[in-house]
Amino acid sequence: MSNPFTHSLYLIVILTAFSLPHADLAEAEDYLHAPPEAVKEWRELKFGMFIHWGPVSLMGTEIGWSRGGERRGQRGTGDIPVEIYDNLYKKFNPTEFDADEWVRIAQEAGMKYLVFTTKHHDGFVNFDSKLTDYKITSPESPYGKDIVKQLADACHKAGLDFGIYYSPPDWHHPDYRTENHERYIEYLHGQLKELCSNYGDIDMIFFDGLGGTAEDWNAKPLFKMIRDLQPDVIINNRCGLPGDNQTPEQKIGAFQTDPPWETCMTIGTQWAWKPDDKIKSVKECVQTLVRVAGNDGNLLFNVGPMPDGRIEPCQVGRLEEIGDWLDQYGESIYATRGGPIVSGPWGVTTYKDNKVYVHVLEWEGDSLELPPLEGKILDSELMTGGKVEVVQSEDGVSIKVPREDRDPVDTIVVMRVDDLP
Ligand code: GLC
Repeated sequence: MSNPFTHSLYLIVILTAFSLPHADLAEAEDYLHAPPEAVKEWRELKFGMFIHWGPVSLMGTEIGWSRGGERRGQRGTGDIPVEIYDNLYKKFNPTEFDADEWVRIAQEAGMKYLVFTTKHHDGFVNFDSKLTDYKITSPESPYGKDIVKQLADACHKAGLDFGIYYSPPDWHHPDYRTENHERYIEYLHGQLKELCSNYGDIDMIFFDGLGGTAEDWNAKPLFKMIRDLQPDVIINNRCGLPGDNQTPEQKIGAFQTDPPWETCMTIGTQWAWKPDDKIKSVKECVQTLVRVAGNDGNLLFNVGPMPDGRIEPCQVGRLEEIGDWLDQYGESIYATRGGPIVSGPWGVTTYKDNKVYVHVLEWEGDSLELPPLEGKILDSELMTGGKVEVVQSEDGVSIKVPREDRDPVDTIVVMRVDDLP
C-alpha cells in the first residue's frame, strides 16, 4: 500500500469513480444480480416444489408443447389443434383447488419453497392480468378466480417462499416474434410488473426463455424493474442473462459451488398432469435430492395437479415419504453446502458447521475409501443407526459399516471435524 505507484493508482480509481456521470454509475448494473445475502438464504432452502398447471390438464398432455399450430421461434408442433387447445380454459373449472392444501403438501414433503406456472409457452395466464382476456379470470372462464393470488397468499401465510414461473415465449400472443414484437415485449414487461406488484413478496422468478437472448426480451430494463419492485428476488438464467442461478433440467447438476444452481425435475414423466403416469420411487427421489445437495445445488421437484385442482394422491403419498425421510435426516441436507469431498458413484458429502455428512448411496465392497480430508476427524457416528468404523490417515478416510447397518436408500455417517472450509 505504501508503494507510491499503487498509491497514485488508487487515487486515479477514486477520482474516476467520482467523476462518472450518473448514467455510467447505473452501468454498475447492480440489478443484474440479487444481493449475496438473498442468494445465500435461497441456497439454504435446498428443496422446493415446482408446479405446472393450467387448462391443458384437461387433456392430460404436456403443457405448452402439446399445442398445435405454429411456434414462432421453435420448430415442430403439438398434437392438439389450436382451436381445441386455446379453448380449453372455457371448460377448466378446478373446483377442488385449495391453495392451503397444496402448501400443506409441499411443507409435509419438507419443501421450503414453491414455484408456480403463472404463464407457460401456451400463453394462458393463471392470474388476473389486466393486459389480456386469455386468463383464469376471464368472463369466459367458469372458475374465474386468480390462482396465483390464492397460492401467493397461502404461501405467505404458511411461511413458504413463493416463486413464479413465467415463459417469455408465448405461442398464443399475436405479436410474439412478428414485426410487432416490440408490443409483445411491452406485454411481457407489463405482466411482470403486475406479478411483482400485486402478490406480495416474490422470492424467485423462473423464466423459461427457450434460448431467447437478452435482446429478445429487453431483459436488462426488465431486470431493473423487477429488482426495484422485489429487491431480494432470485432470478434464474433463462431470460438471456446469467441471473442468479443456473438451471439443469431433468438431470442432477455436476458438482459446482459457483454460480449457484437448481435442478428442476419431474416426479413422473411430464411437467403437466398425465393420467397413469409412472412416478419415481421414493429411493430415486431421496437419492436425487441427496446427490443434488452433495453437488451443492437446490432441487425444484415438479408435480402436475389434476384438472379438478387436486394433486394426485399417489404423488402426495410419494411426497409424504420424502418428507418422512427429511424429518429424520434433514439436518444433513438443509443449509448444508456440497462437499468437502467431491461426489462419486458411491455417493456424496455435505457439510455444515463442524460436521461432514457422508451419504453412502452405493456400497462397492467392504469399505468405502475416500480421499484425504483437511481437518482432523474428532468423532463419528451412523446417523441412520448402527456401527461405523472411520479411520483417517494421510492417504484418506476409510469407512466401514457392517452390511446389516447399511441403509438401502442412504447410509449417513456424521463426522465431527476440527477444521472445515
Ligand atoms: C422446459 C420446457 C417446459 C418446462 C421447463 C421447466 O424448458 O419447455 O415445458 O416448463 O422446461 O424447466
